[in-house]
Amino acid sequence: MSHSIQVDLSRSGCQENSLSNKNCSWADDLQHAHQQVCSLDLELMASGEIPDDRKPLDGNFYPLPDKILSEYRSDRNESELGQILKTANRLQSSVEAIVVLGIGGSYMGTRALMDACCEPYYNELSKAERGGRPQLYFAGNHLDNDALQGVLGRLRAVTPEGNWGIIVISKSGETLETAVAFRTLLDLLKQQCPHDFPNFVIPITGETGSLNQMAAELGCANVFRVPEGVGGRFSLFSAVGLLPAATIGLDVVQLLQGAADMNETFRTAELSSNPPLDFALAAYQLQLQGDVSIRVLSVWEQAFASLGMWYDQLLSESLGKDGQGMTPITMVNTRDLHSRAQQHQAGRNDKWIVNLSTRQSHTDQLQIRESTLDVAGLNDLAGVTLAELSAAALQGTNRALCDVQRPTADIVLEQGDEYGLGQFFQMMMLATVVEGKLLGVNPYGQPGVEAYKKHMRNILLSDRS
Ligand code: PA5
Repeated sequence: MSHSIQVDLSRSGCQENSLSNKNCSWADDLQHAHQQVCSLDLELMASGEIPDDRKPLDGNFYPLPDKILSEYRSDRNESELGQILKTANRLQSSVEAIVVLGIGGSYMGTRALMDACCEPYYNELSKAERGGRPQLYFAGNHLDNDALQGVLGRLRAVTPEGNWGIIVISKSGETLETAVAFRTLLDLLKQQCPHDFPNFVIPITGETGSLNQMAAELGCANVFRVPEGVGGRFSLFSAVGLLPAATIGLDVVQLLQGAADMNETFRTAELSSNPPLDFALAAYQLQLQGDVSIRVLSVWEQAFASLGMWYDQLLSESLGKDGQGMTPITMVNTRDLHSRAQQHQAGRNDKWIVNLSTRQSHTDQLQIRESTLDVAGLNDLAGVTLAELSAAALQGTNRALCDVQRPTADIVLEQGDEYGLGQFFQMMMLATVVEGKLLGVNPYGQPGVEAYKKHMRNILLSDRS
């Protein structure tokens, strides 16, 4: 497989990207950022002597896909991926449903993968139509009573005998939302399967923390790790994303291969054919040049809505620091052309619209057919496919925005399959880290998220005293 991802930044309003243009002030900075991600950060991490002002430094996401694939190719069943696939097969043959518990980086990548690759109504298909694979639910990403009751209700209805499982994911092992849902769901599973439940609870966590301790106390049959030096929102290519994806039958080897191939391009390609570097540079230049402070990931597949949610987190938590970073927004087209487009076209000129589309649909093309009931003049378009309509809407939107000097860019996946998504996820992670380095912002860690937690705990504890 080698289909590529195409990135067109020509309408971003940035100067010509060329590293040969040594007069550009950014050229050295970009080269340095590139070297840092490719080697310097990893060397610093390996030395164990990371200066305080560089902490946290979580650069291990970059070599992760290559490492997991090469271990799998040499050690097969003994490798991490071998163990993940074995556990996924065991779950597939023994449970009707899985609940993935986790929040932020511990679940958004999996949600995005499922929505992009599976049938839109996956959980509603019969078991045979799902290829014998379990339904997949998500919880532990909110504090919403009715939503959690909803999942409990589904589990009781779908698997009254208790043949369901939990994949509980928390790097820190201390996250409140995930812990609350875990306690609640574990109570139900224990009631339904008092003896077997440790076989159906699979924790994915760090080496320390209370989830790790609990996994040992429960005697869980399988426990997987969030690797050291990989932050939550960068952890999709570890067990965090691979185990749930494999459980619903996604091709995780192709997913990793897409990411590994993006790494190769990042390492070796010239600027202007290096999607992560080109994208990071355009983003950086837009921030230097003017008023652009909002980045709209404008997706052209319904199935990509959750990819937008994943990218919202990646951009917000990585670069929203020190008064910097663009504000991410996701737009799902063409739905949101009927809500947001007015503002994008004629409101404040403070946005960069980044289109994400694919060349190929998963399913056969529907066509507009001739009809005696000609509503909205559709007979004039008889024979046109939905994909052609969508492509025209995308082009038309770009042209309209270009007419009023509003910057846009296009990311085009050959296919929205595991390989193409592997490329996309890794491209965006690399681009975000490089952009952070250009902006002088540490892309790792999310210290700003702690502030509300402190207040929340004080409020809860003061109410009890
Ligand atoms: O990017 C991150 O590290 C965070 O968004 C975490 O993924 C999120 O806060 C969940 O943390 P944990 O996996 O420790 O429960």
